[in-house]
Amino acid sequence: MQKRSLFLTFEGMDGSGKTTQMRLLAERLRARGRDVLETAEPGGTRIGIEIRRILLDAANQELGPTAEMLLYFACRAQNLDEWITPALAEGKIVLSDRFTDSTLVYQGCGRGLGAEAVMTLDRIACRGLVPDLTLLIDIDAETSLARAHARNASQRHSETRMDEQSLAFHRQVYAAYHALAAREPHRFRIVDGRAAIDAIAAEIWKAVEPYV
Ligand code: TMP
Repeated sequence: MQKRSLFLTFEGMDGSGKTTQMRLLAERLRARGRDVLETAEPGGTRIGIEIRRILLDAANQELGPTAEMLLYFACRAQNLDEWITPALAEGKIVLSDRFTDSTLVYQGCGRGLGAEAVMTLDRIACRGLVPDLTLLIDIDAETSLARAHARNASQRHSETRMDEQSLAFHRQVYAAYHALAAREPHRFRIVDGRAAIDAIAAEIWKAVEPYV
């Protein structure tokens, strides 16, 4: 019998630890015998990784808000067509490190482009696909920026264009995540991102286990 497909997304501020948590959840699900596809936005597919480079390169200061939003959705459309839709059709569990909620909070709210513009593009790129469950790993804007800056300093990488936005921008993103989670409580689970890695993983498992 084919297992039930499931689409889970991880959301949160930069430095929330969602990437680590997604990897731990993938391992746990595989240990249960489930087939898991891990993807990320921006990123995932080969084309998505190329788009990610444009979006996050600190040298691309002139990239405008609308072009930025369209690039995030170009990445997402490719991810859907090439990876996510086929995987779900095969009954796999798909885990995505960020999805449309990120665009709602960073571009819709942070950049001020509005939720309507974001959801119009979502209808084109995602054609009604909404995550079954979204894990919001919760850290505040100050903690996020401190962690992102520490990481950038230690890794000396150039993927810093978004982290370089002001504290006010990141505070808006934080507030937007909480507003979104309050609007869709059946889909969102908020997990305290300041807890120990194992404790966060246990919380996440409690939320996911009923679905698998
Ligand atoms: P990451 O560090 O989690 O890979 O995310 C890269 C950055 O891209 C992060 O600062 C959030 C931002 N982002 C958006 O602004 N809009 C989006 O739609 C997505 C998916 C990410």
